[in-house]
Amino acid sequence: MTKDEFKRLLDEKRKKVEEAIDVYLPKADTRPHIVHEAMLYSMKVGGKRLRPILLMAAYELFPSELDPMPACVAIESLHTYSLIHDDLPCMDNSDLRRGVPTCHKKFDEPIALLAGDALLTHALWLLADAYKAHPQVAADLVCDLGDAASSRKLIGGQVEDILGEREGKMTVDRLNFIHANKTAALITSAVTMGVRLSSGCNAQRLEAARQIGAKVGLAFQVIDDILDATSDAKTMGKPVGLDERNEKMTYVSLYGIDESRKIAEKLSREAVELCGALSESADFFKALIEYMQNRIY
Ligand code: IPE
Ligand code: IPE
Ligand code: MG
Ligand code: MG
Ligand code: MG
Repeated sequence: MTKDEFKRLLDEKRKKVEEAIDVYLPKADTRPHIVHEAMLYSMKVGGKRLRPILLMAAYELFPSELDPMPACVAIESLHTYSLIHDDLPCMDNSDLRRGVPTCHKKFDEPIALLAGDALLTHALWLLADAYKAHPQVAADLVCDLGDAASSRKLIGGQVEDILGEREGKMTVDRLNFIHANKTAALITSAVTMGVRLSSGCNAQRLEAARQIGAKVGLAFQVIDDILDATSDAKTMGKPVGLDERNEKMTYVSLYGIDESRKIAEKLSREAVELCGALSESADFFKALIEYMQNRIY
């Protein structure tokens, strides 16, 4: 696949996600307006849309009669909730997200907190509602996303992220727990949900999806750590240097930038090698993993 062809497909998919957000989120004039405005503000101001695009790419290996777009909006809603809460003053205390003021800066803290809660609930409701004609699929999707977002995974990772900051003691075990759970778990669910919606869903492909997701997801957070230490706010659309200021436990603080880059490259390479277990022809899916590895924001 040429670079231009990949870029064209990526833009096409991003556009599909943006259109689906308008369809599957409550309208801004729904009462009470302010919370729906806040939800749409954080959802629509930008973002790379990599989780829904990953879901779509996994689905398209074996397309089915099921529409993946509600699931795409569900995972992006859940991700956006996690960002709104992550940015709150009691968490990472960040003023900029996706190139604009964070939700609590644009609105206020109570509204940002509630908009995040609402996006989380909406994500799980949307899966149950959109796929209710296929109860087994609906249940499996809710299980995947609910598990990824749970206190054992995404929340668990965020909790140990805070404990690491508080205790100031860095261990490899804790660092890997944080990254595997605060970030890789949701990215893994993007791949498994795409497989579940496809016509090629079986136990072997689901297992491959989990292994690929774990590696791509860990690489993704390692790169996020590197960019926090090396990029600038204009490129990233969010402040940089926050990890160091907040004394976070990151790959950069433990391994340094060069070694972290090597670790991420190795993980991405291994993920691409595992793609054969998903499908013989996974060109876009593999190119997407490489794009995520080489991203600059
Ligand atoms: C940011 O995720 C949070 C992390 C898990 C590192 P993204 O880098 O995907 O953020 P958006 O969605 O593009 O804003
Ligand atoms: C965020 O990790 C992970 C979740 C929101 C679950 P970070 O705190 O590193 O994300 P950024 O750098 O603020 O996007
Ligand atoms: Mg954080
Ligand atoms: Mg943060
Ligand atoms: Mg970060």
